[in-house]
Amino acid sequence: MLVHAGHASARKFFTPSTAPSYDAVVGITTFGRDAAWKREILKVVSGHGPVLDLACGTGILTSMIRETGRPVAGLDFTRDYLEIAKDKMGPLFAQGTAEVLPYRDGTFDAVVSSYLAKYVDVSLMVCECLRVLKPGGIVVLHDFACPGGAMRSLWNAYFAALRLAGTFARSWKPVFDGLDSVICQSRWEEQAIDAMQKCGFQGVAGRHLTLGTAAIVVGRKP
Ligand SMILES: C[S@@+](CC[C@H](N)C(=O)[O-])C[C@H]1O[C@@H](n2cnc3c(N)ncnc32)[C@H](O)[C@@H]1O
Repeated sequence: MLVHAGHASARKFFTPSTAPSYDAVVGITTFGRDAAWKREILKVVSGHGPVLDLACGTGILTSMIRETGRPVAGLDFTRDYLEIAKDKMGPLFAQGTAEVLPYRDGTFDAVVSSYLAKYVDVSLMVCECLRVLKPGGIVVLHDFACPGGAMRSLWNAYFAALRLAGTFARSWKPVFDGLDSVICQSRWEEQAIDAMQKCGFQGVAGRHLTLGTAAIVVGRKP
């Protein structure tokens, strides 16, 4: 059985009590950047399909991909989040962990994920992505990043305000209390770039979004 520290955080954060309000909370707490970041992912994979949305959660990105007319599948390990995704879009979804994918070799033209990388064994996940991609297929990992410089003080103040909000929004308290340290302890960007290069992806590149508060790492299967 896989044991990774990130799994424990994910199990604590993504629960039956956060699932029903997830879509609203992610939009409000990112000041709408969530939709903008997901549009960035869509730009990178435009023209690619079928697409796998890894850690699809309630299916926000999955439905954006489906609206572009491409076949899409979603995988997540939290049942209550998947149930919401299924209610929105039907049976496109599988339950499982991102490090061991239940798909045949060469199934997808693109694999995308939003807010997953800090919770998983990135090396295992990236090599699984390579396996399920067709030649020429692309992987796009997006997640929060820990900003440096002047932005860091603003970011810390923002998380202090979120912690206060958690005293009222009790179901979100574990997330609002703990997310900043999960983000800043994670080295997901360096790990993803390193793992993609070692697994055999080409054109591996990362870039920051929104003043260093998020990042995207991309690679292509030869
Ligand atoms: C913040 S939510 C993001 C959901 C969706 N990607 C989005 O952008 O709205 C993180 C999701 O990652 C899922 N998750 C965390 N670790 C996972 C793993 N090892 N395998 C599959 N899903 C995982 C959680 O269940 C949760 O649904």
